[in-house]
Amino acid sequence: MRLDDKVALITGAGSGIGEACAVLFADEGASIAAADISEDGALQTAATVADAGGESMAISGDVTDKAECERMVAETVSRFGKVDILVNSAGITPRYVPADTPFDEKWDRVIDVNLKGTMLMSYYASERMKEQGRGSIVNLASIIGLVGYPHGHGLSDGFNPYPHSKGGVVQMTRDMGVAFAQQGVRVNALCPGFAFTALTKSLTDDADARARLESLHPMGRLGEPVEIAHAALFLASDEASFITGASLPVDGGYTAQ
Ligand SMILES: NC(=O)c1ccc[n+]([C@@H]2O[C@H](COP(=O)([O-])OP(=O)(O)OC[C@H]3O[C@@H](n4cnc5c(N)ncnc54)[C@H](O)[C@@H]3O)[C@@H](O)[C@H]2O)c1
Repeated sequence: MRLDDKVALITGAGSGIGEACAVLFADEGASIAAADISEDGALQTAATVADAGGESMAISGDVTDKAECERMVAETVSRFGKVDILVNSAGITPRYVPADTPFDEKWDRVIDVNLKGTMLMSYYASERMKEQGRGSIVNLASIIGLVGYPHGHGLSDGFNPYPHSKGGVVQMTRDMGVAFAQQGVRVNALCPGFAFTALTKSLTDDADARARLESLHPMGRLGEPVEIAHAALFLASDEASFITGASLPVDGGYTAQ
């Protein structure tokens, strides 16, 4: 199997793309540390993996908290002896922040989870990976980290922190990819188009909004979490041994336009 003897720590594993990565990576032989701020979510994904015959543990933790990030890596190593793969899938949009929150506080919250959380988890995981002399970090950026929101769809007024955070993840991926290249630690990102998860549910449940989003993707449809997970599997595995600092669109052609 493609991830035999590998240990994967996955944040945001309680839902959507993180959950799909946990299930797929376990199918490919990895032991899974399913981490999420939602304890129920982490437990549920760990149980799904275990029910399918995989090795798993659940970790509840908040990626915006430095001490919790250190603990999440330490718990993974304590249970499985090492950490080979980190998938940074924990993420939010401004829709998750109460609407009456001042714009700068909303910005801080999204940047904290999407950008700082990715940095903190990478900090502690990469320390361990460098000691091991090997490791692979896969960040969840976005098409909206590569291009701006399309004009005329009301998706941003220029102060939407989501594209700001995801552009930062793309650049962080390049910077860490270069910095860790000689220590056996690869760092890459995925840039998904719109996919069906809890994150986009409020948009995709609205027939008009969904049709508008579908029309923005040349394939005329949105993605499924497992389609993103397959790309994550490739980047996480040794098949991608000469790839670092890269950001791969998984977007039905969205950014090729
Ligand atoms: N779904 C899409 O269309 C899409 C497109 C591009 C990029 N992405 C990115 O992919 C990643 C996964 O998104 P998803 O669509 O699976 O969303 P999701 O909402 O289904 O899952 C995100 C998970 O992150 C967890 N989380 C949120 N804040 C956290 C925190 N502070 N600490 C730990 N866990 C936290 C949530 O509890 C949730 O389980 C995100 O970074 C998102 O920005 C998603």
